[in-house]
Amino acid sequence: MCGIVGYVGEKPVVDILLEGLSKLEYRGYDSSGIAVNCDDKIETYKAKGKLQNLRNLIEPIHGKLNKSSYGIGHIRWATHGSPNEINAHPHSCNCGKLVIVHNGIIENFKQLKEMLTNCGCEFRSQTDTETVAHLIAHKFGEYNDLKKAVSEATKQIEGTYALCVIHQDVKDTIVVTKRNAPLIIGIGENEHYVASDVPAIIQYTKKAVYLEDNQIAVLTPSTMELFDKNLNKLEPKVEILPWESMSLSKMGFKHFMLKEIHEQPDVVRNILTDKLTGCDEPIQLNEVKLTKDELKKLNRIQVVACGTSLHAAMVGKYIIESLCSIPVDVEPSSEYIYRKTVTDENTLVIGVSQSGETADTITAIRQSKARNSHILVITNRPDSTMARDADSLLPVNAGIEVSVAATKSYVAQLVSFYLLAIYIAEIQGKMDKDTLTNIKNELVILPQKIEMILAHKENIQACARMYSNSRNFIYIARGINYATALEGALKLKEISYINATGYPAGELKHGPIAMLDETLPVLSILMSGMVYDKILSNSEEAKARNAKMIALTDSDDENLKELFDFIIKVPKVQELVSPILSIVPLQLLAYYIAEFLGKDVDQPRNLAKSVTVE
Ligand code: M6R
Repeated sequence: MCGIVGYVGEKPVVDILLEGLSKLEYRGYDSSGIAVNCDDKIETYKAKGKLQNLRNLIEPIHGKLNKSSYGIGHIRWATHGSPNEINAHPHSCNCGKLVIVHNGIIENFKQLKEMLTNCGCEFRSQTDTETVAHLIAHKFGEYNDLKKAVSEATKQIEGTYALCVIHQDVKDTIVVTKRNAPLIIGIGENEHYVASDVPAIIQYTKKAVYLEDNQIAVLTPSTMELFDKNLNKLEPKVEILPWESMSLSKMGFKHFMLKEIHEQPDVVRNILTDKLTGCDEPIQLNEVKLTKDELKKLNRIQVVACGTSLHAAMVGKYIIESLCSIPVDVEPSSEYIYRKTVTDENTLVIGVSQSGETADTITAIRQSKARNSHILVITNRPDSTMARDADSLLPVNAGIEVSVAATKSYVAQLVSFYLLAIYIAEIQGKMDKDTLTNIKNELVILPQKIEMILAHKENIQACARMYSNSRNFIYIARGINYATALEGALKLKEISYINATGYPAGELKHGPIAMLDETLPVLSILMSGMVYDKILSNSEEAKARNAKMIALTDSDDENLKELFDFIIKVPKVQELVSPILSIVPLQLLAYYIAEFLGKDVDQPRNLAKSVTVE
């Protein structure tokens, strides 16, 4: 992961780098650093921990450093070497004249390190990145040309990278390149910016070039030259970013996560507004670029995703199979890419990703594209790498999600799957119209139902208070809400560090039941419908082992009070649509438990919002 920024121009460099890094904190936050030219030398400052520590370090010399004319910065999510000051970027060569920041993983760093050590390079850190600094410096010694040095060095590198390189003797110049990691160049008046992502530069410019793999760009205040890997000159494709400069605010909420949970009713409304014009009207999904004939011919759908997006995909499978009778496989991208998968031109491959930058999912969709499958991407970032690779792009339009724990983007992905399933079903014409109209009716009133849950959140807060000292949690469900159990447990794990696991309720007695005793809360997702009675029986089995029982239910059955120690009530909802509703109390439960425990809710330890490494 990691975020990188760079600037060359006349504005206060340090302010731009720090502000840019703050916008990239979602990519990592275990350490950070900057390097700028100062008194004809490159000076580097690094700090362990949050960006504020770097700000504090620089504070006494901030004014002086701000007069620099070029610089680079980095915010880290550690891959090689623990998150400490030495391993923080930027990294430099022996003499300190050449300095780089890097996002990605250098897979052959051990071989490179051995070779470079034999050439006299002294390594200070445990990172893979430092090899790149030494390698480029070594090539610079040979060619005395920074872009040539970068070009030659990257030919020897295996792995993924976005790189910014500066050299003390090549004034007012930043050389940048990338392979399988995002990098964007911003163009201003007599200035250039570079960053891992748009939010870092959008407040300064909307004119930008998305660097493509293996391209090398040389940036000075007044020029941008673009080359391919063999240094043939290219014409940059300048785009106008469809973004507004935004200041992200918590709007009075204590954390971004709580704010984003509260945005969910509007997120659902927004998606529906464009696509569902009336419950008797067919769904409009012009974004799907498959023809009607191609849609009818689909013999299989494969969905690849990671983490929360994977859980959305599991609900997607359920709904597509129910409404369209097309077999759907859902697989973590990281597994999908390392086995032989059977796909052909009648297979639709769907990549689901909040960020659109998840490395495993990018690899998965690229592999399928090479096998001629149509690639449909469901993402919250229509400007992302996955979006650019897609044949059909379904943007979920949830708005920027700051909290590392995904909430509103999950609900938006779910709604997108419902719309897609109904759209395909309507084209197939096999499903009876009333069923589809009923689902649409239910979708339309969902935002109000979510609002009702949010309006009664004190009950969930009380539940959180009661169980916040538990060291383990089990979530059980069946059918379409099995994914909800997994997602609820993931939310709790991510932000409270409590060991929470989701199980299909019927599986409890095949092993996990051995763990149950009076210290273990079991949360049953007990929504009215086909499997209600089954989950009830499974809950009885857990109760008989003295587990502390919590129900999340839309049922009015008074008898539930005998079985459950705590009941979280949600409005009545059709079973097929229930995952969009049932996840909301679980997000809140995880939030309030983490908050009671005093955890860093928006930036939990060891995580990052965008996982750009395999
Ligand atoms: O950006 P993506 O949706 O592809 O990210 C996938 C996972 O890394 C992500 O969902 C992760 O599990 C979140 N932290 C969930 O809250």
